[in-house]
Amino acid sequence: TRRITVRDIAAAKKRGEKWPMLTAYDSMTASVLDEAGIPVLLVGDSAGNCHLGYDTTVPVTMDELVMLSSAVVRGTSRALIVSDLPFGSYQEGPVQALRNAGRFLKEAGSGAVKLEGGARVLPQVETLVQAGIPVMAHLGLTPQSVHAFGGYPVQGRGNEASHKLLRDAKAMQDAGAFAVVLELVPAELAAEVTASLDIPTVGIGAGPDCDAQVLVWTDMAGMNSGRTPRFVKQYADLRGVLSGAAKAFAEDVVGGAYPAEEHSFH
Ligand code: KIV
Ligand code: NA
Repeated sequence: TRRITVRDIAAAKKRGEKWPMLTAYDSMTASVLDEAGIPVLLVGDSAGNCHLGYDTTVPVTMDELVMLSSAVVRGTSRALIVSDLPFGSYQEGPVQALRNAGRFLKEAGSGAVKLEGGARVLPQVETLVQAGIPVMAHLGLTPQSVHAFGGYPVQGRGNEASHKLLRDAKAMQDAGAFAVVLELVPAELAAEVTASLDIPTVGIGAGPDCDAQVLVWTDMAGMNSGRTPRFVKQYADLRGVLSGAAKAFAEDVVGGAYPAEEHSFH
């Protein structure tokens, strides 16, 4: 089997096929998601919150995401692996963006990168695309700007903001992006952007009319503690399953039920 490519992604939009995307941060989980048929896996900087124990995505470094990306690549054989450019790894300009995006392709084996922002990162997107690096754009709520947003509010509400989002999406398409994530925007606006673009939109908290949908895998599988956002649908209670297993193991060890005869050597 060969890996999914950006050509397959383009073809899916032409055929009107919807597709799922999940994050992944380690090789074992990634192998499960790959075998389950998820065609695109994102080594998101949500690893900051969901894998590395930070409060936001802001502290996440290139070295951390290169290491996690190489693990995800090693654990998969079919999915297209997209790596997030973390905060501070592309804002200085196209040269910095190219140097860091290149690390994901050369050192980790990723097939594409993602960065946040519209018109403000146009030169970066153009440079990466010209260098042969597939780029996924990310508009709407862009979590690396959490300190500027003052939290995680819905974006693109009102005339001016919705027109800006539509313009940004078109600019990303014109710059050569192969897809655009729309995070936390009104469903009506996401539908309008999706209808007006030739490249697929990947929604998260952006309603049902996007071409694809992405979720953070730990949210999707119920592995995270604490509150999950309203747009998340939780498909399992992995936290409960793992916690139950750990408690049962502890009980067996304390009570002497483990190891039993069949686990022992003579
Ligand atoms: O880092 C991430 O998980 C993301 C997705 C939510 C789009 O950027
Ligand atoms: Na991200």
